[in-house]
Amino acid sequence: MNSGKNPRFSDRFEFVPGENDLYTLLESVKKSGEDWIDLTASNPTKVGLIYPREAILHSLEKPESMVYDPDPKGTNLARTSIANYYQEKGYNISVEDLFLTSSSSEAYSFLLKLLCNPGEEVLIPSPGYPLFEFLSILDGVEFNFYKLDNKSDWKIDFIDLEAKITSKTKIIFLVSPNNPTGSIISKEEFEKLNSIAKQNGIAIVLDEVFSDYIHDLNSEKIDPFVCDSPLFVVNGISKILALPQMKLSWIHVGGSRDWKKECKERLEIIADTYLSVGTPIQLALSELFQWRKMIQSQVLRRIQRNLQLLENFSSKHSKIRFISPKGGWYSVLQSETFMQDENFAFRLLEKEKVLVHPGSMFGFEENSGNIVLSLIVETELLESSLEKISSLL
Ligand SMILES: Cc1ncc(COP(=O)(O)O)c(C=O)c1O
Repeated sequence: MNSGKNPRFSDRFEFVPGENDLYTLLESVKKSGEDWIDLTASNPTKVGLIYPREAILHSLEKPESMVYDPDPKGTNLARTSIANYYQEKGYNISVEDLFLTSSSSEAYSFLLKLLCNPGEEVLIPSPGYPLFEFLSILDGVEFNFYKLDNKSDWKIDFIDLEAKITSKTKIIFLVSPNNPTGSIISKEEFEKLNSIAKQNGIAIVLDEVFSDYIHDLNSEKIDPFVCDSPLFVVNGISKILALPQMKLSWIHVGGSRDWKKECKERLEIIADTYLSVGTPIQLALSELFQWRKMIQSQVLRRIQRNLQLLENFSSKHSKIRFISPKGGWYSVLQSETFMQDENFAFRLLEKEKVLVHPGSMFGFEENSGNIVLSLIVETELLESSLEKISSLL
Protein backbone atom coordinates (compact mmCIF):
# COMPACT_ATOMS: atom_id res chain seq x y z
CA MET A 1 0.00 0.00 0.00
CA ASN A 2 1.29 3.50 -0.86
CA SER A 3 1.22 5.52 2.35
CA GLY A 4 3.19 8.49 0.92
CA LYS A 5 1.85 11.53 -0.91
CA ASN A 6 0.97 11.11 -4.59
CA PRO A 7 2.07 13.86 -6.98
CA ARG A 8 -0.58 16.30 -8.21
CA PHE A 9 -1.28 16.04 -11.96
CA SER A 10 -0.75 19.09 -14.15
CA ASP A 11 -3.70 21.34 -15.00
CA ARG A 12 -2.57 21.46 -18.62
CA PHE A 13 -5.78 19.76 -19.75
CA GLU A 14 -9.13 18.97 -18.21
CA PHE A 15 -9.35 15.28 -17.44
CA VAL A 16 -12.83 13.79 -17.60
CA PRO A 17 -12.68 10.16 -16.50
CA GLY A 18 -14.56 7.56 -18.54
CA GLU A 19 -15.87 7.61 -22.09
CA ASN A 20 -18.85 9.48 -23.54
CA ASP A 21 -22.12 7.59 -24.15
CA LEU A 22 -21.31 6.69 -27.76
CA TYR A 23 -17.93 5.17 -26.93
CA THR A 24 -19.29 3.39 -23.87
CA LEU A 25 -21.91 1.81 -26.15
CA LEU A 26 -19.19 0.95 -28.67
CA GLU A 27 -17.21 -0.85 -25.99
CA SER A 28 -20.27 -2.91 -25.06
CA VAL A 29 -21.00 -3.75 -28.72
CA LYS A 30 -17.39 -4.90 -29.10
CA LYS A 31 -17.61 -6.99 -25.94
CA SER A 32 -20.87 -8.61 -27.03
CA GLY A 33 -19.10 -10.12 -30.03
CA GLU A 34 -21.87 -8.90 -32.39
CA ASP A 35 -20.92 -7.79 -35.90
CA TRP A 36 -20.69 -4.03 -36.30
CA ILE A 37 -19.51 -1.74 -39.07
CA ASP A 38 -17.04 1.04 -38.52
CA LEU A 39 -17.70 3.89 -40.96
CA THR A 40 -15.11 5.97 -39.12
CA ALA A 41 -12.30 3.55 -40.07
CA SER A 42 -9.51 5.71 -41.43
CA ASN A 43 -6.53 3.58 -40.52
CA PRO A 44 -5.38 2.56 -44.03
CA THR A 45 -3.59 -0.54 -42.75
CA LYS A 46 -6.91 -2.03 -41.62
CA VAL A 47 -9.23 -1.49 -44.56
CA GLY A 48 -8.14 -4.29 -46.88
CA LEU A 49 -5.61 -2.44 -49.06
CA ILE A 50 -2.90 -4.51 -50.70
CA TYR A 51 0.57 -3.31 -49.79
CA PRO A 52 3.86 -4.44 -51.37
CA ARG A 53 4.56 -6.16 -48.08
CA GLU A 54 7.85 -7.91 -48.88
CA ALA A 55 9.34 -4.84 -50.53
CA ILE A 56 8.37 -2.58 -47.62
CA LEU A 57 9.81 -4.94 -45.03
CA HIS A 58 12.95 -5.45 -47.11
CA SER A 59 13.56 -1.71 -47.43
CA LEU A 60 13.70 -1.45 -43.62
CA GLU A 61 16.55 -3.94 -43.34
CA LYS A 62 19.51 -1.72 -44.18
CA PRO A 63 22.80 -2.56 -42.41
CA GLU A 64 23.41 1.20 -41.94
CA SER A 65 20.48 1.15 -39.50
CA MET A 66 22.86 -0.36 -36.97
CA VAL A 67 24.75 2.95 -36.66
CA TYR A 68 23.32 5.97 -34.86
CA ASP A 69 24.42 9.15 -36.58
CA PRO A 70 21.57 11.60 -35.96
CA ASP A 71 20.93 14.83 -37.82
CA PRO A 72 18.31 17.04 -36.11
CA LYS A 73 16.78 17.90 -39.49
CA GLY A 74 16.69 14.26 -40.60
CA THR A 75 19.14 12.48 -42.88
CA ASN A 76 20.10 14.21 -46.07
CA LEU A 77 19.08 11.08 -47.97
CA ALA A 78 15.52 11.14 -46.62
CA ARG A 79 15.17 14.88 -47.18
CA THR A 80 16.43 14.46 -50.75
CA SER A 81 13.74 11.85 -51.45
CA ILE A 82 11.11 14.26 -50.11
CA ALA A 83 12.48 17.03 -52.36
CA ASN A 84 12.28 14.57 -55.29
CA TYR A 85 8.68 13.77 -54.42
CA TYR A 86 7.83 17.46 -54.67
CA GLN A 87 9.88 17.78 -57.87
CA GLU A 88 7.72 15.03 -59.43
CA LYS A 89 4.65 17.08 -58.51
CA GLY A 90 6.15 20.19 -60.12
CA TYR A 91 7.38 22.01 -57.01
CA ASN A 92 10.95 23.11 -56.39
CA ILE A 93 12.06 22.93 -52.80
CA SER A 94 15.43 22.86 -51.05
CA VAL A 95 16.42 19.99 -48.74
CA GLU A 96 17.77 22.72 -46.45
CA ASP A 97 14.22 23.88 -45.73
CA LEU A 98 12.99 20.47 -44.55
CA PHE A 99 12.78 19.10 -41.01
CA LEU A 100 11.69 15.53 -40.38
CA THR A 101 9.36 14.66 -37.50
CA SER A 102 7.77 11.41 -36.37
CA SER A 103 4.20 12.54 -37.15
CA SER A 104 2.29 15.58 -38.24
CA SER A 105 1.17 15.97 -34.62
CA GLU A 106 4.80 16.26 -33.61
CA ALA A 107 5.37 18.74 -36.43
CA TYR A 108 2.55 20.89 -35.01
CA SER A 109 3.98 20.60 -31.53
CA PHE A 110 7.42 21.79 -32.76
CA LEU A 111 5.80 24.76 -34.52
CA LEU A 112 3.76 25.68 -31.44
CA LYS A 113 6.98 25.64 -29.40
CA LEU A 114 8.81 27.65 -32.04
CA LEU A 115 6.22 30.40 -32.38
CA CYS A 116 3.96 30.62 -29.32
CA ASN A 117 4.50 31.59 -25.72
CA PRO A 118 2.12 29.93 -23.27
CA GLY A 119 -1.13 31.89 -23.40
CA GLU A 120 -0.66 33.11 -26.97
CA GLU A 121 -3.19 32.02 -29.59
CA VAL A 122 -3.68 30.00 -32.73
CA LEU A 123 -6.63 30.05 -35.12
CA ILE A 124 -8.13 26.74 -36.19
CA PRO A 125 -10.50 26.13 -39.15
CA SER A 126 -14.04 25.05 -38.25
CA PRO A 127 -15.26 22.54 -39.27
CA GLY A 128 -11.83 20.97 -39.06
CA TYR A 129 -9.37 18.44 -37.74
CA PRO A 130 -10.24 17.91 -34.05
CA LEU A 131 -6.67 17.28 -32.90
CA PHE A 132 -5.58 20.93 -33.29
CA GLU A 133 -7.42 21.89 -30.11
CA PHE A 134 -5.74 19.29 -27.99
CA LEU A 135 -2.31 19.82 -29.53
CA SER A 136 -2.57 23.52 -28.62
CA ILE A 137 -3.74 22.75 -25.10
CA LEU A 138 -0.85 20.37 -24.54
CA ASP A 139 1.58 23.15 -25.48
CA GLY A 140 -0.15 25.68 -23.20
CA VAL A 141 -1.43 27.67 -26.19
CA GLU A 142 -4.92 29.19 -26.47
CA PHE A 143 -7.04 28.59 -29.56
CA ASN A 144 -9.98 30.09 -31.34
CA PHE A 145 -11.88 29.00 -34.46
CA TYR A 146 -12.40 30.70 -37.80
CA LYS A 147 -15.36 29.64 -39.91
CA LEU A 148 -15.41 27.88 -43.23
CA ASP A 149 -18.66 28.82 -44.92
CA ASN A 150 -20.85 25.88 -45.94
CA LYS A 151 -22.92 28.14 -48.19
CA SER A 152 -19.94 28.97 -50.37
CA ASP A 153 -18.10 25.72 -50.91
CA TRP A 154 -16.47 25.88 -47.45
CA LYS A 155 -14.49 28.97 -48.38
CA ILE A 156 -12.81 30.85 -45.55
CA ASP A 157 -15.14 33.38 -43.92
CA PHE A 158 -12.64 36.23 -43.92
CA ILE A 159 -14.89 38.54 -41.93
CA ASP A 160 -15.00 35.98 -39.15
CA LEU A 161 -11.28 35.24 -39.45
CA GLU A 162 -10.23 38.89 -39.20
CA ALA A 163 -12.55 39.43 -36.24
CA LYS A 164 -10.81 36.58 -34.41
CA ILE A 165 -7.28 37.96 -34.82
CA THR A 166 -5.92 39.52 -31.63
CA SER A 167 -2.50 40.82 -30.61
CA LYS A 168 -1.84 37.33 -29.21
CA THR A 169 -2.54 35.44 -32.48
CA LYS A 170 0.61 33.72 -33.73
CA ILE A 171 -0.48 30.96 -36.11
CA ILE A 172 -3.33 30.36 -38.55
CA PHE A 173 -3.76 26.66 -39.22
CA LEU A 174 -5.02 25.75 -42.66
CA VAL A 175 -5.79 22.27 -44.01
CA SER A 176 -6.17 21.69 -47.75
CA PRO A 177 -7.85 19.41 -48.69
CA ASN A 178 -9.61 19.93 -45.41
CA ASN A 179 -10.67 17.19 -43.02
CA PRO A 180 -13.67 16.60 -42.98
CA THR A 181 -15.17 19.00 -45.57
CA GLY A 182 -12.83 17.95 -48.41
CA SER A 183 -12.58 21.59 -49.49
CA ILE A 184 -9.51 22.90 -51.28
CA ILE A 185 -8.16 26.41 -50.84
CA SER A 186 -8.36 28.58 -53.96
CA LYS A 187 -5.55 30.84 -55.17
CA GLU A 188 -7.60 33.89 -54.29
CA GLU A 189 -8.22 32.72 -50.72
CA PHE A 190 -4.59 31.73 -50.32
CA GLU A 191 -3.35 35.16 -51.44
CA LYS A 192 -5.80 36.95 -49.19
CA LEU A 193 -4.85 34.78 -46.22
CA ASN A 194 -1.16 35.47 -46.82
CA SER A 195 -1.69 39.17 -46.93
CA ILE A 196 -3.71 39.13 -43.68
CA ALA A 197 -1.06 36.98 -42.02
CA LYS A 198 1.71 39.28 -43.22
CA GLN A 199 -0.02 42.44 -42.01
CA ASN A 200 -0.51 40.95 -38.55
CA GLY A 201 2.82 39.14 -38.10
CA ILE A 202 1.13 35.74 -38.08
CA ALA A 203 2.57 32.50 -39.48
CA ILE A 204 0.50 30.16 -41.64
CA VAL A 205 0.78 26.42 -41.08
CA LEU A 206 -0.60 24.55 -44.08
CA ASP A 207 -1.45 20.86 -43.62
CA GLU A 208 -1.27 19.17 -47.00
CA VAL A 209 -1.45 15.54 -45.91
CA PHE A 210 -4.34 14.86 -48.31
CA SER A 211 -2.89 16.73 -51.30
CA ASP A 212 -2.35 13.54 -53.33
CA TYR A 213 -6.02 12.64 -52.93
CA ILE A 214 -7.84 15.13 -55.16
CA HIS A 215 -11.25 14.07 -56.49
CA ASP A 216 -12.25 17.26 -58.25
CA LEU A 217 -9.62 17.55 -60.94
CA ASN A 218 -10.79 21.07 -61.81
CA SER A 219 -9.85 22.42 -58.41
CA GLU A 220 -7.19 25.12 -58.33
CA LYS A 221 -3.62 24.30 -57.40
CA ILE A 222 -1.62 26.69 -55.21
CA ASP A 223 2.16 26.74 -54.86
CA PRO A 224 2.83 27.09 -51.13
CA PHE A 225 6.58 26.94 -51.68
CA VAL A 226 6.82 30.28 -53.46
CA CYS A 227 6.02 32.62 -50.64
CA ASP A 228 8.00 35.40 -48.99
CA SER A 229 6.00 35.41 -45.75
CA PRO A 230 6.30 32.83 -42.94
CA LEU A 231 4.57 29.69 -44.13
CA PHE A 232 5.15 26.16 -42.91
CA VAL A 233 3.93 23.16 -44.90
CA VAL A 234 3.25 19.95 -42.96
CA ASN A 235 3.01 16.60 -44.72
CA GLY A 236 4.03 12.97 -44.22
CA ILE A 237 3.83 9.38 -45.31
CA SER A 238 0.88 8.49 -43.10
CA LYS A 239 -1.35 9.57 -45.99
CA ILE A 240 1.06 9.89 -48.96
CA LEU A 241 2.05 6.22 -48.63
CA ALA A 242 -0.82 5.17 -46.36
CA LEU A 243 1.81 4.05 -43.84
CA PRO A 244 0.98 5.84 -40.55
CA GLN A 245 2.77 3.19 -38.51
CA MET A 246 6.12 4.10 -40.06
CA LYS A 247 6.05 7.47 -38.29
CA LEU A 248 7.58 9.92 -40.71
CA SER A 249 6.36 13.42 -41.43
CA TRP A 250 8.00 16.73 -42.21
CA ILE A 251 7.88 20.49 -42.00
CA HIS A 252 8.89 22.71 -44.92
CA VAL A 253 9.96 26.18 -43.82
CA GLY A 254 9.05 29.08 -46.10
CA GLY A 255 9.52 32.83 -45.76
CA SER A 256 11.98 35.64 -46.47
CA ARG A 257 15.68 34.69 -46.46
CA ASP A 258 16.74 36.37 -43.22
CA TRP A 259 13.68 35.27 -41.27
CA LYS A 260 14.03 31.73 -42.53
CA LYS A 261 17.65 31.55 -41.44
CA GLU A 262 16.88 32.34 -37.79
CA CYS A 263 13.72 30.25 -37.91
CA LYS A 264 15.64 27.17 -39.04
CA GLU A 265 18.34 27.66 -36.38
CA ARG A 266 15.65 27.76 -33.72
CA LEU A 267 13.71 24.82 -35.16
CA GLU A 268 16.93 22.82 -35.26
CA ILE A 269 17.33 23.29 -31.49
CA ILE A 270 13.81 21.95 -30.92
CA ALA A 271 14.33 19.01 -33.29
CA ASP A 272 17.73 18.26 -31.71
CA THR A 273 16.08 17.99 -28.30
CA TYR A 274 13.88 15.11 -29.45
CA LEU A 275 15.68 13.43 -32.38
CA SER A 276 12.53 11.37 -32.70
CA VAL A 277 12.60 9.95 -36.23
CA GLY A 278 13.98 6.40 -36.40
CA THR A 279 16.94 5.63 -38.63
CA PRO A 280 15.44 2.58 -40.46
CA ILE A 281 12.50 4.54 -41.86
CA GLN A 282 14.73 7.42 -42.98
CA LEU A 283 16.96 4.98 -44.85
CA ALA A 284 13.94 3.23 -46.39
CA LEU A 285 12.13 6.35 -47.56
CA SER A 286 13.45 6.64 -51.11
CA GLU A 287 12.50 2.99 -51.82
CA LEU A 288 9.10 3.39 -50.19
CA PHE A 289 8.29 6.38 -52.39
CA GLN A 290 8.53 4.07 -55.42
CA TRP A 291 5.28 2.44 -54.26
CA ARG A 292 3.40 5.72 -53.97
CA LYS A 293 1.35 5.40 -57.18
CA MET A 294 0.52 1.73 -56.55
CA ILE A 295 -0.78 2.45 -53.03
CA GLN A 296 -2.50 5.72 -53.87
CA SER A 297 -4.31 4.32 -56.90
CA GLN A 298 -6.00 1.72 -54.68
CA VAL A 299 -7.07 4.36 -52.18
CA LEU A 300 -8.31 6.68 -54.92
CA ARG A 301 -10.26 3.89 -56.63
CA ARG A 302 -11.85 2.96 -53.30
CA ILE A 303 -12.80 6.58 -52.65
CA GLN A 304 -14.28 6.99 -56.16
CA ARG A 305 -16.50 3.94 -55.68
CA ASN A 306 -17.57 5.12 -52.24
CA LEU A 307 -18.34 8.60 -53.53
CA GLN A 308 -20.48 7.08 -56.26
CA LEU A 309 -22.42 5.12 -53.63
CA LEU A 310 -22.93 8.27 -51.58
CA GLU A 311 -24.11 10.20 -54.67
CA ASN A 312 -26.66 7.46 -55.44
CA PHE A 313 -27.73 7.30 -51.82
CA SER A 314 -28.30 11.05 -51.55
CA SER A 315 -30.15 11.18 -54.87
CA LYS A 316 -32.56 8.52 -53.58
CA HIS A 317 -33.14 10.31 -50.28
CA SER A 318 -34.37 13.83 -50.68
CA LYS A 319 -33.76 14.44 -46.98
CA ILE A 320 -30.03 13.89 -47.32
CA ARG A 321 -27.65 16.62 -48.40
CA PHE A 322 -24.32 15.45 -49.70
CA ILE A 323 -21.70 17.73 -51.21
CA SER A 324 -19.06 15.62 -52.85
CA PRO A 325 -15.67 16.47 -51.29
CA LYS A 326 -13.03 17.89 -53.62
CA GLY A 327 -10.30 15.93 -51.90
CA GLY A 328 -9.28 13.93 -48.84
CA TRP A 329 -10.44 10.82 -47.05
CA TYR A 330 -13.67 12.04 -45.44
CA SER A 331 -17.18 13.03 -46.37
CA VAL A 332 -20.04 14.78 -44.63
CA LEU A 333 -23.72 13.87 -44.83
CA GLN A 334 -26.31 16.37 -43.62
CA SER A 335 -29.96 15.74 -42.79
CA GLU A 336 -32.64 16.87 -40.38
CA THR A 337 -32.78 13.25 -39.26
CA PHE A 338 -29.22 13.59 -37.96
CA MET A 339 -30.15 16.54 -35.71
CA GLN A 340 -28.71 16.04 -32.25
CA ASP A 341 -25.88 14.32 -34.03
CA GLU A 342 -24.58 12.49 -30.96
CA ASN A 343 -28.03 11.03 -30.30
CA PHE A 344 -28.32 9.96 -33.91
CA ALA A 345 -24.88 8.32 -33.88
CA PHE A 346 -25.85 6.57 -30.64
CA ARG A 347 -29.15 5.28 -32.11
CA LEU A 348 -27.45 4.14 -35.30
CA LEU A 349 -24.91 2.13 -33.36
CA GLU A 350 -27.47 0.77 -30.92
CA LYS A 351 -30.07 -0.26 -33.52
CA GLU A 352 -28.07 -0.93 -36.68
CA LYS A 353 -24.57 -1.54 -35.31
CA VAL A 354 -23.02 1.12 -37.54
CA LEU A 355 -20.55 3.66 -36.17
CA VAL A 356 -20.27 7.18 -37.65
CA HIS A 357 -18.67 10.36 -36.29
CA PRO A 358 -21.10 12.97 -34.97
CA GLY A 359 -20.31 16.18 -36.89
CA SER A 360 -19.92 18.13 -33.63
CA MET A 361 -16.64 16.29 -33.12
CA PHE A 362 -15.29 18.30 -36.06
CA GLY A 363 -16.85 21.61 -35.02
CA PHE A 364 -20.24 21.38 -36.76
CA GLU A 365 -22.99 22.73 -34.55
CA GLU A 366 -24.66 19.85 -32.74
CA ASN A 367 -28.09 20.63 -34.14
CA SER A 368 -26.90 21.22 -37.70
CA GLY A 369 -27.46 17.53 -38.49
CA ASN A 370 -24.06 16.49 -39.83
CA ILE A 371 -22.35 13.14 -39.65
CA VAL A 372 -18.85 12.36 -40.88
CA LEU A 373 -17.78 9.15 -42.62
CA SER A 374 -14.42 7.84 -43.71
CA LEU A 375 -14.16 7.35 -47.47
CA ILE A 376 -11.56 4.61 -47.29
CA VAL A 377 -13.86 2.03 -45.69
CA GLU A 378 -14.47 -1.11 -47.73
CA THR A 379 -17.14 -0.41 -50.32
CA GLU A 380 -19.29 -3.44 -49.46
CA LEU A 381 -19.40 -2.28 -45.83
CA LEU A 382 -20.38 1.24 -46.83
CA GLU A 383 -23.09 -0.13 -49.12
CA SER A 384 -24.68 -2.27 -46.44
CA SER A 385 -24.38 0.54 -43.86
CA LEU A 386 -26.17 2.98 -46.14
CA GLU A 387 -29.08 0.54 -46.34
CA LYS A 388 -29.13 0.45 -42.55
CA ILE A 389 -29.03 4.25 -42.36
CA SER A 390 -31.96 4.32 -44.85
CA SER A 391 -34.00 2.25 -42.46
CA LEU A 392 -33.49 4.90 -39.75
CA LEU A 393 -34.44 7.79 -42.04
C1 LIG B 1 -5.68 16.94 -41.42
C2 LIG B 1 -4.83 15.84 -40.86
N1 LIG B 1 -3.53 16.06 -40.62
C3 LIG B 1 -2.75 15.07 -40.12
C4 LIG B 1 -3.26 13.82 -39.85
C5 LIG B 1 -2.44 12.71 -39.22
O1 LIG B 1 -1.17 12.66 -39.58
P1 LIG B 1 -0.08 11.85 -38.71
O2 LIG B 1 -0.45 10.42 -38.75
O3 LIG B 1 1.17 12.15 -39.45
O4 LIG B 1 -0.05 12.45 -37.32
C6 LIG B 1 -4.60 13.57 -40.06
C7 LIG B 1 -5.16 12.24 -39.76
O5 LIG B 1 -6.28 11.91 -40.06
C8 LIG B 1 -5.41 14.59 -40.58
O6 LIG B 1 -6.72 14.38 -40.80
